[in-house]
Order: sequence, then C-alpha cells, then structure tokens
Amino acid sequence: MCGIIGYIGKKKAIPVIIDGLETLEYRGYDSSGIAYYNKKKELKIIKEQGKIAILKNILNLNEESNLGIGHTRWATHGQPSRINSHPHNVGNITLVHNGIIENYEELKKHPLVKNYKFISKTDTEVACAIINSLYNENQDILKSLEESQKLLMGSYALAIIVNNDFEHLYVMKKDSPLIIGVGNKENYVASDVPAILKYTKKYILLNEGDIGIVSNKNIKVYNQKKLVKKKILEFEWDLEAGMKNGYEHFMLKEIFEQPKVIEQTIKEYINDYDFINLPDLTKYNRIDIVACGSAYHTGLIAKYWFEEYCNMEINVDIASEYRYKKNFLDKKCLLIVISQSGETADTLASLRLVNDKKIDTLAIVNVVGSSIAREAKNVLYIKAGPEISVATTKAYSAQALLLSILAFKTSVDKKIINIKEKEQIINDYHNLSLYIQDILSNTKICESIAKKIFKANDIFFLGRKIDYAIVMEGSLKLKEISYIHSEAYPSGELKHGSIALINKNTPVISVITDENIALKTISNIKETKARGAYSIVLSSLNMDNNKECYDYLIKIEHIHSLVEPILPIIYLQLISYYIAKLNKRDIDKPKNLAKSVTVE
Ligand code: AGP
Ligand code: GLU
Repeated sequence: MCGIIGYIGKKKAIPVIIDGLETLEYRGYDSSGIAYYNKKKELKIIKEQGKIAILKNILNLNEESNLGIGHTRWATHGQPSRINSHPHNVGNITLVHNGIIENYEELKKHPLVKNYKFISKTDTEVACAIINSLYNENQDILKSLEESQKLLMGSYALAIIVNNDFEHLYVMKKDSPLIIGVGNKENYVASDVPAILKYTKKYILLNEGDIGIVSNKNIKVYNQKKLVKKKILEFEWDLEAGMKNGYEHFMLKEIFEQPKVIEQTIKEYINDYDFINLPDLTKYNRIDIVACGSAYHTGLIAKYWFEEYCNMEINVDIASEYRYKKNFLDKKCLLIVISQSGETADTLASLRLVNDKKIDTLAIVNVVGSSIAREAKNVLYIKAGPEISVATTKAYSAQALLLSILAFKTSVDKKIINIKEKEQIINDYHNLSLYIQDILSNTKICESIAKKIFKANDIFFLGRKIDYAIVMEGSLKLKEISYIHSEAYPSGELKHGSIALINKNTPVISVITDENIALKTISNIKETKARGAYSIVLSSLNMDNNKECYDYLIKIEHIHSLVEPILPIIYLQLISYYIAKLNKRDIDKPKNLAKSVTVE
C-alpha cells in the first residue's frame, strides 16, 4: 500500500525516483508525486492524480537533481486528487507519508498549528505542519522529529526534505515499512527493497521509532535520542525475480513459478524422509491461526489438516476481527500468523497483542526481515520469492504447503500417522511440483472455461469442509481481478438463501476432493443444476456415476489429502486469470486494491 522512494547521490534523482515508483506500482495507488531540488537549488513539487505515466509526462526526466523523494498514494483520508497527493509541503518541511495519523483531527487544534490553514484533506498535511512548527521553534530537525513522535499517533513511514538542506534526506518510521538502501556515495530510501534493487542489494531495516539522517556518504539512525548501530543486510532475491520475463502479466508468471516455489519450500523443510527447521507443536493444546485475505484462507485449510491429523483444536480468525475480540489464550496456546508481505497492519497488530501476553507466536512469512517476521517469537519462511501481482498465487500455495508440512510433522510427532503413511505423503510432496507442472502444461482447459463464463454477472463456488476453504480462495481470486461478483458457499448452505440467485447459465464452480462427503456436495450441485446453473466440477474422485451434475469436469490427481488440496487452486487461479483477461482488466493492479495493506 503506497510507495515511498528517496534518493541522494550523483545520479539524476528524477529517473531513479520514477523508476522506483514504477517498481512499487504493484503495491496499489491512486496518485503519485515527487519533490526534488533542481540545479538552481530550487525545491520543485510535482504531483498528479492517476497513474505514474501521467506524472512522468509532465516531468523533465533529464533535469539535473541529486536529491528527491517520491510517493504513490493510496488514499485513506481525502479523496484521490492533486491537492491531497504527496509530497506535502508546509513552510520548511516537505514530506511523503505512508500510513495514517489517527489523531489528525485533534492535532489540527494543537497550539503549534492552530493558525495554519490546511489546504488538503489529508492526515499527512497535519503531520507536516506539526513537524514544521517544531522545526521553526527548534531549528534542529532531529530534535523536532523526536518531539513530533510524542504527538503523532497511528502509523507513519516518512521521507522528508528540509528547506535549504541540500545534503540530507530524513526518515522516520512507526508501524509502516521503510528501509534505507545503501549505495556507493549515494543512498536510497524505499518502502521495500525491490524498488532499489536495480542499484543496490544492500539495505538497512528501520525499526519502530527510528529516525534516519541520510546523506550521500553517511547514514545515521537514532532511536530514543540515541545513535543506534545498524546492520547492513544483503537482499537475497535478484532483479530478475521482480521482472515479467516474457509473461504478459506478473500474475501469470507467478502462477507458472509455482512448481519451483513448491520444490524450494519442500527442500527447506523436508530432507529426504525427515523434517528439518520445523518447531515441535505437540506441546500446545490449541492453535489460533490469524491472517487476512488469501493468507486467512490457507489458515482455514490448515484447520482441517490439524484437526483431522493432529487431533488439535484450531481457531482461525480474520486479523481485523481477532485483534478486537475477546481471546481465551493461555500458555498452552500458540498463535500462528500468516502473511506474504509480513507488513499487513491487522495481522501485525494481532501478533503484538499476543506477544504482549507472553504467549508463543509463530509467523509464516514470505518477505524476509518484514515487521511480522521480526516480531514473532519464531518465524518460518515460505520460499516464494518476490510476489508482485496484487492477487497472490505462489505465496498462497507455498503458505498452504508449509502449513500442510507443519500439520504432517505434528501428526508424525504425535504418532498419529504411521511410517508407511509417512512415506506415501513424503512421496506425494516430492511429486507435487510435477503434478502442478502437468496442470500448467495444458492451460487450454481453463481458457475454454473462461470463454464460456467470462460475461457472467455472478459466479458461485461450492465445496464442503476443506473443499469449502479451497473455493473461498477461488472466489476471492476471481472477484479481485475480474470484478465479477462471486460468493463461496459451504454447499449445504446455498439453499438457505443464496440459491435464489441461481438463474439459467449462472456458473457454479465446485471442488470435490473429500470422498466422505462427496455425495452431499453432488446433491447440492444438482440442486443448482435443476435451476439452470452451468456447473463446473473439479474433482479427484471418480465421477462416472454422476455425470449429470456437471457440464464441465476437471480431473484432479488423487493423492494424500494432506497434499491434494494444493492442486485445485492452480486451476482456479488460471480460470480467474483468463476471465479477467477476457474482460480486459488491469490484472496485476486491480482497482482499489493494494499489495500490502499497511493500514487498518
Ligand atoms: C490476495 O490475492 C489478496 N490481494 C489479499 O487478500 C492478501 O492475501 C491479504 O491482503 C493478506 O496479505 P499478506 O499475506 O501480505 O498479509
Ligand atoms: N494517509 C495518507 C493519505 O491519505 C497516506 C496514505 C498512503 O499511505 O498512501 O494521504
């Protein structure tokens, strides 16, 4: 959500900043802007509503400049417009902001700014005005930023330029991601490392409350008035991983990366026939799994695995609910948070809440060094590599896989799964990427289904138990990139209301992998067919005796039920992709969405 980039050094700052903003585009935004000192040491602020291309059009990319900051805004306070776009300037301070200043209304009445006339509707301008007033009083930017920390509530990653200070960029961070990129006689500031990967792999992670002073040769970071020693880290992914490599969209590229990602994740946690790098979960008698969106859906799948194979009580919650509800946690409970980005605000808040109670926490994360990864007591990384498309694909399957391996190990530790079954499951893991490759080698099936249904107004997804958890992700995938209304239902629930919406040719997509309740789902599908639905069934079971329940059948490889649920989603991702493509949607950057949701 939102992108920040800053540069100080010998290069021309404007193209570096624009390039960085373009790399951060995937995070989602509605406006963009830049502030820089030109050759005559004049401060220029240029911003526009809409795509970066619009901003680029009105900029002179060749203009000499060695210091600047840029921003892509995802509006939280004040509609998308040029005035509300960042950078904001008040007096001596020009800044870009990611996050929300929660007490901005109250701060507007603060004596420091009470005579200032706000021109935008943003919370950011209030922060800018406060810092400016403090700076006017103190004439010392570090002191002013420190004092502002006591006043500003909420979340902020700030990159700041000070009038007539041509040698420094300033940064300040609380609850929103920000890193400093370390170059050779030049330095960078960014929301995440891929934005600067073209120039450097070295970076410094900022912690909560950090204030950074960045010149072309020096980086100083202060926290609570003390200079802190920062480690220079090296980013493990390369630039190629963040490029399309000939695919039309990042989403398609990432779908096709799944066999590799699955292999990498398995290699990290299973060594031939043994588990490696995994914690012992048998000491817990309850696990709470908390996440948002697709990550939440992987938690729902895991619930069935842990209940079925580990006899454990699992409670899965959406992070924005969990953080505000009453929780009955004790020392025998474990919290697992799942997050691709490791920066999702609600998931992070839930983690902090449980950390504060001194209860064990485990994070399943993709982005190394992200806030959630750093703050959880224990972290397991999925090996998905950078995921650029807003709609998650490879991170989802890697999360599901890792949760499956965790449930599997716990079951083996509890001696519920025997040696023979263990071997079969491990074989299935080792063959999983081949099964996925097989699916990917014939996308025609998904393309032809998409052609049949892409004009639909509503698409329903049905399943029971774990199949319901799987179709929830299928439905989310579809709606977020195609903008077609879609609902996922436990199939038995449809007739309690929503079946009223089934008309002639309404597509109904069902997943049936659980043989114990297959016949129940089949009956429910028939109920929709009786009302004219166009039925697409994905199943690993023999459907020969049930031909009348589908118009289109996709056969799924029948493997162990700890592994099999990872297969149907590959088809569902592809079907959504082709439907969105036929509807000419902006697949990698769907409207209104952001890759990493760093605000509540
Ligand atoms: C998935 O396609 C979504 N765009 C979204 O639901 C996402 O899974 C959710 O925002 C959680 O993100 P995280 O994994 O980075 O925490
Ligand atoms: N809250 C700020 C605004 O609405 C910043 C939003 C963002 O993170 O892009 O302008």
